Amino acid sequence: MTDPGTVLITGPTRNLGRHTVLAMADRPRDRRPDLLLVGRAGSDLTAVAAEARDRGATVHEIPCDLANLADVRAAAATARDLLGTGAVRPLHALIANAGIISTDTRRATPDGYETTFAVNYLAHAQLIADLLGEFTAPARIVLLGSNTYHANVWRKLLHVPPAAWADPVDLARPATTAPSATASGTAYSNAKLAVLYYAHELQRHAPDGVNVTVFEPGWMPGTALSRGTPKPAQMIGRALARVPGVSTPQRSGPLLAALALDDRWAHLRDGAFVVKSVVAEPHPIATDRERERRLWEATAELLRHRSHSPSSP
Ligand SMILES: NC(=O)c1ccc[n+]([C@@H]2O[C@H](COP(=O)([O-])OP(=O)(O)OC[C@H]3O[C@@H](n4cnc5c(N)ncnc54)[C@H](OP(=O)(O)O)[C@@H]3O)[C@@H](O)[C@H]2O)c1
Repeated sequence: MTDPGTVLITGPTRNLGRHTVLAMADRPRDRRPDLLLVGRAGSDLTAVAAEARDRGATVHEIPCDLANLADVRAAAATARDLLGTGAVRPLHALIANAGIISTDTRRATPDGYETTFAVNYLAHAQLIADLLGEFTAPARIVLLGSNTYHANVWRKLLHVPPAAWADPVDLARPATTAPSATASGTAYSNAKLAVLYYAHELQRHAPDGVNVTVFEPGWMPGTALSRGTPKPAQMIGRALARVPGVSTPQRSGPLLAALALDDRWAHLRDGAFVVKSVVAEPHPIATDRERERRLWEATAELLRHRSHSPSSP
């Protein structure tokens, strides 16, 4: 990209998001974007913003709890104001990085939705719906996927359940009975399969020159994604993070920054699935025109129902 403009990123406060922010801020001045950091208010957000400013970047913090759609809409409005007043350069990229695995699928957001589905998927669908008209082409939307959406031998060994797709309105509904041991993993895989379907459909609705891709950072054990799991499992995760060759936020963050900014990836669109720095062929279940259409329609219902927003995904 000649002028990198502005990049908005969610979940900048730790691990993959934080290292992506720092990688962008570390770029030479003419390739360094302005940064809009959308994250939960607090010292972590202030700290990463300060680190990026120290490296020379123009940075705005936008406090937002993505579990609350009213907050998401307010964050989008703040971003629009900053862009509209020229406080930052034109919007050239949005990185929908924030993610969570809620350990109890009965837990509901203030809007009444299952938390994993709401934060990983719905919040980003709302944010993007509210900002889709704000991009200046050429622009990129990078969503965060995860290979957990389908089963393979490694994930079976690690007891990571694949997606079990259902109508999106049902996926958004919190469980009402005590969930099984695999329910939170299944909810996470469903949310990440939703991201893939959404990416394909989003490209059909995006303005010309706004390209949609999905990034898979590789398995990064020991990040806060597993913060709700029992302490021994978290300790094993932190130990595995030191195994040579295992992905880490330090290594994958710059790759995510590159996908959002580098000329090398300018041709990618249609929800191209990039695993670290390789374009991968997704499993056949990740492409389904009817599910993609239904997800788009159901998302509009879910966002309208709770947010009374005029925007639709
Ligand atoms: N770790 C892996 O192996 C792996 C593999 C494939 C894909 N991914 C994906 O990569 C992305 C980053 O993962 P990570 O491992 O870096 O996770 P992480 O360490 O848990 O960081 C997640 C980020 O999301 C933010 N977030 C969570 N809930 C939020 C909310 N309600 N409102 C605002 N921000 C919220 C967190 O903010 P706080 O600091 O406020 O909590 C944090 O900045 C996720 O989308 C994840 O699904 C990870």
